[in-house]
Amino acid sequence: MFHHITVLKEEATEGLHVREDGIYVDCTLGGAGHSALIASRLGSQGRLIALDQDDWALDNAKEKLASFGDKVILVKTNFRDLEEVLRALPMVPQRDGIPQVDGILFDLGVSSPQFDEGERGFSYNHDAPLDMRMDQSAELTAAEIVNTWPEQEIARVLFQYGEEKFSRRIAGKIVERRALRPIHSTGELADIIKEAIPAATRRTGGHPAKRSFQGLRIAVNDELGAFEEALHAAVRCLAPGGRVSVITFHSLEDRICKQILNSYVGRCTCPPDFPLCVCGGEGQMRLINRKPLTPGEEELTLNPRARSAKLRIAEKL
Ligand SMILES: C[S@@+](CC[C@H](N)C(=O)[O-])C[C@H]1O[C@@H](n2cnc3c(N)ncnc32)[C@H](O)[C@@H]1O
Repeated sequence: MFHHITVLKEEATEGLHVREDGIYVDCTLGGAGHSALIASRLGSQGRLIALDQDDWALDNAKEKLASFGDKVILVKTNFRDLEEVLRALPMVPQRDGIPQVDGILFDLGVSSPQFDEGERGFSYNHDAPLDMRMDQSAELTAAEIVNTWPEQEIARVLFQYGEEKFSRRIAGKIVERRALRPIHSTGELADIIKEAIPAATRRTGGHPAKRSFQGLRIAVNDELGAFEEALHAAVRCLAPGGRVSVITFHSLEDRICKQILNSYVGRCTCPPDFPLCVCGGEGQMRLINRKPLTPGEEELTLNPRARSAKLRIAEKL
């Protein structure tokens, strides 16, 4: 059973200003909650192109979105290939060889079923093979990182992507343990992490393996690299007036989102000693909300996993 509670569903969809005859892209189909809402607002000419790299999400969505018929096009892909995917679809118009769509949504991270299905190896709560791939056909797994990467690289992943302050101690313990025998399961890894963290810290701030597991998951799926590429592509592929809605779940994603969107906002680039602006300060995007939107109390009561969600919306000029 594929059950994911969609986060900021109305807000992110409203943010796109869906037009009946527009072409929209959901880059993170998942449980198809946003996709179903967007598709329900389309008329006979409107289209939704929904992407995911996870076969399981796509199989589930095929059924869930069947009633929308050919208004919805499902594509298995990594969203970092957004521009090429759109270029290959005949219903997407192009301007100067660049595909043009009316709205693009990102709802980043993993879906609840990916996380809760022990076999996928994302969770420290289920003992399972150390996998963590969203795309089951990708080559890199968490087991490969843990068992073959140099100690410093493992520490970097835990520190940079997991914001784990005991990253070096944990990486040291992992390397010590794998010298005895390979680390195959999430349970073994969670125990090693627990041992590496000082006892006093272990008792505070949630599960001791939470940050390290986040770091590994981000590395396995190159989540930040893919998002960075995809957000630049999204800005290129929006038609004038088109909007992008982005939901992030941790500070690393939100920082990238904010910096990239800000880099397209117009500001004067004239040298400081010019008495008047001659550049026009024209940007390519306008921010719809300066501060990110966050879920209200009601949503958080129904879905505590929404706690860290932040929504940023911007419009192409
Ligand atoms: C949080 S879920 C989306 C939930 C969805 N909005 C809903 O309402 O059910 C994120 C989804 O994006 C997918 N995903 C994450 N990174 C991706 C990437 N780089 N390329 C394609 N799909 C990705 C995951 O496989 C997952 O299914």
